[in-house]
Amino acid sequence: MKLIIGNWKMNGNMDEKNFLFKDISNTKTKNKVIMCLPFTLLWGDSFGVTLGAQDVSNHENGAYTGDISVSMLKDAGVKYVIVGHSERRTFHNETNETVKEKATLAIKNGIIPVVCIGETMEEKNAGHTTAVIKKMLTESMPDNGEFVVAYEPRWAIGTGVTPTTSEIVSAVKTVFDALPTPMPILYGGSINANNAKEIVSIPYVDGLLVGGASLKSETFLPIIKSIN
Ligand code: 13P
Repeated sequence: MKLIIGNWKMNGNMDEKNFLFKDISNTKTKNKVIMCLPFTLLWGDSFGVTLGAQDVSNHENGAYTGDISVSMLKDAGVKYVIVGHSERRTFHNETNETVKEKATLAIKNGIIPVVCIGETMEEKNAGHTTAVIKKMLTESMPDNGEFVVAYEPRWAIGTGVTPTTSEIVSAVKTVFDALPTPMPILYGGSINANNAKEIVSIPYVDGLLVGGASLKSETFLPIIKSIN
């Protein structure tokens, strides 16, 4: 079974959620589909689709205006939470240390964290991909418990460019070798209906983290169907 995780980022509204979720629930798949939505959409009917969030506070509760705690996510029926997405690391200066705190807190409260890692184009061009991935993973992952790793090269996010098969193999094998026990490893970055099947068939790839193409039925359902 593969994991197909949609990440809506800062997009969508309740009508669009209901529309897509109904379509997902009517689509036969042997894989697991998880939708990570903005906080404001984490309520109402989920039509049987597993709910995820895109971030969580690294604090349990208290005076942290604007933040959302893991117990609030649990209350809303969330099962997975993305931590350390490259956009959080870039625009909110999140460090590996903060990401690890968030992942640890999520696990403690029964929510599975999806720990994101990935190199920049500069790091890739300098031949540092393996070292960067290893360091980000070992410093960001929780010490115990069940989690998911998402390998998302920053230069592949929203660009329409994907790594070669051998680049993905090398990166996910690095992740696999750095994990103390096997955990699902996802690939993310410019996934669409034309490349999903091929990428998800790469050794060590247990699923996909899909951004833009997860927003609408026309682009997301073909991805789900293509990897059945
Ligand atoms: P795109 O699929 O839009 O490239 O985004 C990938 C991503 O960042 C998912 O978390």
